[in-house]
Amino acid sequence: MTILTKGVSPAPSTGVRCPILGTPVKSTRMLVTFEFPMTPDTTSAIPTTAPDAVTFRCPEISDGVRLWEIAKNSQVLDLNSSYAYLLWCRDFSRSSVVAVSEGSPVGFVTGFIRPESPDTLFVWQVAVDSSQRGKGIAAKMLDELMYRLAADGVTRLETTISPDNEASIALFTALARRRGVEISKQELFAPGDFPDGHEAEDLFTVG
Ligand SMILES: CC(C)(COP(=O)(O)OP(=O)(O)OC[C@H]1O[C@@H](n2cnc3c(N)ncnc32)[C@H](O)[C@@H]1OP(=O)(O)O)[C@@H](O)C(=O)NCCC(=O)NCCS
Repeated sequence: MTILTKGVSPAPSTGVRCPILGTPVKSTRMLVTFEFPMTPDTTSAIPTTAPDAVTFRCPEISDGVRLWEIAKNSQVLDLNSSYAYLLWCRDFSRSSVVAVSEGSPVGFVTGFIRPESPDTLFVWQVAVDSSQRGKGIAAKMLDELMYRLAADGVTRLETTISPDNEASIALFTALARRRGVEISKQELFAPGDFPDGHEAEDLFTVG
């Protein structure tokens, strides 16, 4: 395992309310909004009701199509079936987040709590619409998710990243820095583990 960085200052986060684990997701809606653009290391958001504000909330089934579209348009992510995104919005809503602008998701993080490790959020996919990148939206989504799940005892994040995805490595390295924790990397899936010429996926652990 390689320790990549050790952060220095944990970032306070702002709250997004979502249903507690095991409760229906139907009535979840955003309670706090934030004004953008924000610098990626901004840690105190400005509550606002401005119409062009980006808001954060748990995904709902009706967001599934948009998540699928954002993943497809990224041309980087593995595109899963549309069914997978709908199911994720139903069953893993609390461990996922969408960033919403003008009523429509412009970014998402899908994740789940590892059954063998209840203190660990595994982030499956992160994507921000190309028109909205560089505004700190992905960073804020991760901050919100970790803040929300801290109430469930989640202290650590795992994700896998292919070696050439510099944006993703930078995103999670910055998260570790804001939280004041280490980020480490180890091999997880080698190309030979896949049936289709997929790149390697290294496991990154934050915290
Ligand atoms: C990766 C991605 C989600 C970043 O979204 P974003 O909202 O633009 O990212 P942010 O503005 O919140 O930036 C967060 C950090 O990542 C860094 N970063 C973002 N994009 C970067 C890029 N292309 N190259 C290098 N660093 C980048 C930022 O500088 C920032 O770090 P800092 O705080 O040290 O400055 C977005 O580029 C994307 O959707 N890419 C396609 C899908 C993908 O690769 N997903 C990740 C694999 S699951």
